Amino acid sequence: MTEGDTYREFDNASIITSADATVVIGRYKFRKRDLLLGGVAVLALIVIIILAIVLAVEVNKNRTAEAPGSAPLVQATPFSTVTYKETHQSTPFIVTEVPTAPCDTVPCLKAAVYAKMNLNQTVDPCDDFYTFACGGFAAANPSTPDLLYLTPTTKILFDNVKQMMAFFDYPVERATAHSYERKVKHFIQSCNNHFDKMNLRGQPFIDKVLKPIGGWYVLNNWNVSSFNFTQQLKQVHVDYWTTAFFGVGVRFNHNDWNKRVVELFYGGLGMHYRYYGEDGNLVTSITDMYKEYMRNLAQLITFDAGVHDTETDARTNIFVEDAFEVENVIANFLLTSAAQWEPHNPENLRSLGDLTANCNNSLDFVDYMKAQFSDAPEHFTSATQVAILTHGYFLFLCPVIANYSSTPEGKRKLHNYMVWQLVNNYAADLSWDYVHYTRVIKH
Ligand SMILES: *[C@@H]1O[C@H](CO)[C@@H](O)[C@H](O)[C@H]1NC(C)=O
Ligand SMILES: *[C@@H]1O[C@H](CO)[C@@H](O)[C@H](O)[C@H]1NC(C)=O
Ligand SMILES: *[C@@H]1O[C@H](CO)[C@@H](O)[C@H](O)[C@H]1NC(C)=O
Ligand SMILES: *[C@@H]1O[C@H](CO)[C@@H](O)[C@H](O)[C@H]1NC(C)=O
Ligand SMILES: *[C@@H]1O[C@H](CO)[C@@H](O)[C@H](O)[C@H]1NC(C)=O
Repeated sequence: MTEGDTYREFDNASIITSADATVVIGRYKFRKRDLLLGGVAVLALIVIIILAIVLAVEVNKNRTAEAPGSAPLVQATPFSTVTYKETHQSTPFIVTEVPTAPCDTVPCLKAAVYAKMNLNQTVDPCDDFYTFACGGFAAANPSTPDLLYLTPTTKILFDNVKQMMAFFDYPVERATAHSYERKVKHFIQSCNNHFDKMNLRGQPFIDKVLKPIGGWYVLNNWNVSSFNFTQQLKQVHVDYWTTAFFGVGVRFNHNDWNKRVVELFYGGLGMHYRYYGEDGNLVTSITDMYKEYMRNLAQLITFDAGVHDTETDARTNIFVEDAFEVENVIANFLLTSAAQWEPHNPENLRSLGDLTANCNNSLDFVDYMKAQFSDAPEHFTSATQVAILTHGYFLFLCPVIANYSSTPEGKRKLHNYMVWQLVNNYAADLSWDYVHYTRVIKH
């Protein structure tokens, strides 16, 4: 006997054994056993529904009973007096959404006061919801001389920053070596140690930037015969993270998202390129202010280096003119050039070898890239192709650099230009005198 036979035999053994085991209702004929089972199922369903209704009524009764005993200190919803109340009485499901726990913790009370403070309850929300919800904000947050424009969003931002700074200023609680709290607080507190910063003045820049790049023309400790443009540019870009002449980035290749491409873009201007040039009083007064700013920062450094005299003043003026001249040459080119359309397209890429040859070898791009990407120098050979974001900028730039590199005077201009990019970049990190000057031009 197979298993199939056993099953059939079991199936045939009806639990109702009477001869007329079928019932006929209209056109349909049922077995009595099926009717019996169907009836039991319908009965069970009805019982479940009745239980669910009883349960729902009970739960609701308990909730309504709890509410008066534990009246919230502050109404969780400010809409309690208006139409909302009527709505939630006639619709039991809304009642379950209103929190019934009392608002008696400090954060909850603060949030409630904040929400209430911003309301203007003299206005009907149905007429003007915005004024109802936010109409009290301006009165509750009057503008101050240092904060002319405050919105609910910026207020949250400022409050969060304040709380964060208060947290960072608080002494370290978890002081183990691996404690993130200790690391973050020490880092922030070292940046905020203005007193030490004030005492050091420009010294960190003189010692840690100007010395390693081989001195500075204005301080008279720079030697033009040992000037090596490629080397100085690499120091400025790689060691000091400062853009001069151009910048480098890595992006996903627009034509093949599995690959990445090195991009070169213009950079190294103290102002937007449209502010250079000679036409118009506005531009002239902007460039005059800018040169004054350059001169002021340079003079501060000469004071802090302890070499300030009439000769350094004269060299400072030459420094300002040199750096401005190079920026001006770059800006004037940018005024007449267009961005490269689809820079990642193969026909628009250029090889590092081409770029170097175009520079008359005064800038070795392979050598430069190996230093910039020192983790993976093997990726860069003279055949490596890179994207150029501004049409023609590098074709223009390299001959300019080559031209400047060909004379001692030109080398001095390149040097002063690069030192200026460093000064401009780092001034905001030095003492208040420096920071103050950067504010004049940058804000
Ligand atoms: C509330 O709105 C009314 C009508 O717009 C206005 O007159 C009143 O000054 C507002 N109150 C506050 C505190 O802003
Ligand atoms: C400048 O550098 C050149 C070559 O490196 C060297 O011969 C010369 O003595 C240096 N001059 C000064 C003043 O250091
Ligand atoms: C300039 O420095 C680079 C290294 O950054 C070096 O490869 C190159 O030979 C140097 N050029 C001169 C003329 O010394
Ligand atoms: C590039 O070098 C060649 C040969 O050394 C020279 O004739 C040419 O003037 C140079 N070009 C620039 C822009 O310096
Ligand atoms: C090269 O420099 C000289 C002198 O600074 C300048 O007169 C000339 O126009 C420059 N040439 C190029 C191609 O930039």
